Amino acid sequence: MPFEKKILCIGAGYVGGPTMAVIAQKCPQHKVSVVDINPERISEWNSDDLPIYEPGLSEIVKEVRGRNLFFRTDIGEGIKEADIIFVSVNTPTKDYGVGAGKAADLQYWEQTARQIVEFSHSPKIIVEKSTVPVKTAQAMERIVRSESNDTKFDVLSNPEFLSEGTAVNDLQNPDRVLIGSMETESGLKARDTLVEIYANWVPRERIITTNIWSSELSKLAANAFLAQRVSSINSISALCEKTDADITEVATAIGMDSRVGDKFLNASVGFGGSCFQKDILNLVYLCRYYGLEEVADYWESVVRINQYQQERFIFKVLNAMFNTLSGKRICLFGFAFKANTGDTRESPAIFIAKKLLEENATIVITDPEALRNARADLEGVNSNIDYIEDPHEAARGCHAIAVMTEWDLYRSLDFKRIYDGMVKPAFIFDGRNILNHAELFEIGFNVFPIGKPAMTHF
Ligand code: UDX
Ligand code: UDX
Repeated sequence: MPFEKKILCIGAGYVGGPTMAVIAQKCPQHKVSVVDINPERISEWNSDDLPIYEPGLSEIVKEVRGRNLFFRTDIGEGIKEADIIFVSVNTPTKDYGVGAGKAADLQYWEQTARQIVEFSHSPKIIVEKSTVPVKTAQAMERIVRSESNDTKFDVLSNPEFLSEGTAVNDLQNPDRVLIGSMETESGLKARDTLVEIYANWVPRERIITTNIWSSELSKLAANAFLAQRVSSINSISALCEKTDADITEVATAIGMDSRVGDKFLNASVGFGGSCFQKDILNLVYLCRYYGLEEVADYWESVVRINQYQQERFIFKVLNAMFNTLSGKRICLFGFAFKANTGDTRESPAIFIAKKLLEENATIVITDPEALRNARADLEGVNSNIDYIEDPHEAARGCHAIAVMTEWDLYRSLDFKRIYDGMVKPAFIFDGRNILNHAELFEIGFNVFPIGKPAMTHF
């Protein structure tokens, strides 16, 4: 049976790959293709060893790959045949020129727009999936319409809210799907076409439609609100450490107010990930551009607190370990920016690792999924780094353990055995508050949680 619609996604990353796998799974009547400028990435998607680790993803890819999901390298051909084109290329923070360090770098995004124009000979709906500054869709419209090409293009904004580690479930059961469109007859028609795709598995009341600017801004604001919760609880954790308050007790008390809610109140060494910092800086840039200095300062402080939390962690380690780390071995439990992913982008572990190396410590990194990325992140930084997959092995001969990622497996390790193999006095800095601190203290460790009194034997 011929396919009803041809869907293409440009960008086979953490967003494009899983999103298209789930669309293909839920819409067997449509053909879904994924292309990428990086042919190696595409061949990884076509192998048994997918380029990203995401629970449940490889099962879905196996189910639909070759049926109605295709990872391809022929970008031009893909564009030619597509009815709907999702753009999911990366939009990192600019590191040059105007807006460096804050604005989004849209070069890949614009190149993609131009590529679409070049190969299009039939009407296309272009769907902006990448998080982009407000009004990017307008720029996209201008680029695609300015060419001599008289193909009809409609641009929609459909930001992705999936969270890494739970991406499959987030895509299959989203809290909401947001679709922004131009309020023209053709814009609304394009919007309805995309609504129909999602309605194959998402209840209608969860598919919300807005104007295109609201949609673009909602994505930036949603991430800013989430990050702001983490910075809020982290700022209170600093105060807890100065008093006898316990951040877990405080978070429980706050979170039981149904107006606040109990999610996203885990104090930590800091938030990471490819989105939070980038999107807030983007929001800050936008506010400054419009002369809203107070608003910009407010959101910028969320990033400042996140940086402060990581610096505080380093000071704590240094202070507890007699103000010198020189020649000491410190084991980092986890390097991914959160559990259940191998992704290390903006992971606090990168900053912590570099600071420890600056203090002439040797670091041992262990992580069940992120060692490959960790090696790439720290390439050329320093040679005093060991990568060991087994955490028991990794901690042997170390002076301290610092928990960077909340992997479940760290909760059930044999800490007595680990303690016996370490240099004394042995320290644990629990940057995620996931371990049983009383038990560790009993074993003999000096324990330093986040936002709770330290437990030491001195
Ligand atoms: C990225 C952005 O970080 C996020 O803000 C946005 O919402 C979606 O895109 P992610 O999928 O996590 O998210 O990025 P990444 O894993 O880096 O994937 C982007 C892919 O696009 C890469 O595989 C890259 O090779 C590809 N790409 C980039 C293209 O195919 N064409 C380009 O011109 C540039
Ligand atoms: C986030 C948004 O949740 C998602 O909707 C958006 O599409 C992309 O950005 P992601 O970055 O994948 O998703 O993970 P998320 O679960 O939001 O965690 C971000 C960071 O905050 C992680 O480093 C995490 O460890 C940290 N965090 C989260 C905390 O430190 N404490 C918390 O209570 C929650």
